[in-house]
Amino acid sequence: MKAPESGPEFVPLKFVRRPPDVMLARARAFRDELALRRSVRHFSSEPLPDGILDLCIEAAASAPSGAHQQPWTFVVVRDPALKREVRVAAEAEEFKFYSERITEEWRGALSRLGTTWEKPFLEDAPALIVVFRHAHGVEGERKVTHYYTQESVGIACGFLLAALHHAGLATLTHTPSPMEFLARILGRPAHERAYLLIPVGYPSAGCEVPNLTRKALDEVRLER
Ligand SMILES: Cc1cc2nc3c(=O)[nH]c(=O)nc-3n(C[C@H](O)[C@H](O)[C@H](O)COP(=O)(O)O)c2cc1C
Repeated sequence: MKAPESGPEFVPLKFVRRPPDVMLARARAFRDELALRRSVRHFSSEPLPDGILDLCIEAAASAPSGAHQQPWTFVVVRDPALKREVRVAAEAEEFKFYSERITEEWRGALSRLGTTWEKPFLEDAPALIVVFRHAHGVEGERKVTHYYTQESVGIACGFLLAALHHAGLATLTHTPSPMEFLARILGRPAHERAYLLIPVGYPSAGCEVPNLTRKALDEVRLER
């Protein structure tokens, strides 16, 4: 006799229902906390508390993903020699970008940030987190299709940046493109594509950031 086909397993949802005033207070506090996040390009070399990055990476890896395929790897780089190698390769790409590939329009968009091809923060920050996107899965010799990997890894990176900020750390969302050099230096397999390079640490003493304003709610939100 054929065994009855088993369907997917379900478990009770863990959901915390809160009173509206508590919900509003939490939403406000979270908004205010995230509003303080800034991209930092000047880091001190102070070491990080033990275990802090793993906790934040666990938070990132709780993100939703297409078909729950979790198409990400987070590589933590603390070794000074490896950080140096990453910096040298990133600066080579960024030098080409700023001197050859950049368009006038792009230069204009970047002008208020004060960025250049030089990236000392890649050595100064005590850690780099390199996020890799799995273009597909691998099961033995078999290639497994993955769905919505860009969206999934983008969401996970949002969780990661928020978790690091919430923990009291500064980050930079860095994309020294093309980023193929990261898979080579960090020994990642061909199906893993570098997605973001995130220096993490404490801001240097007297650190300054560009004076930017964010769009107001009525510029970003519509109601229909
Ligand atoms: C996808 C993405 C790529 C970015 N790449 C770079 C980068 O390569 N170098 C850099 O200095 N900043 C980079 N940034 C940071 C942005 O310049 C920064 O988020 C923006 O200026 C707003 O500033 P804030 O993060 O302090 O709010 C990037 C941000 C995003 C979201």
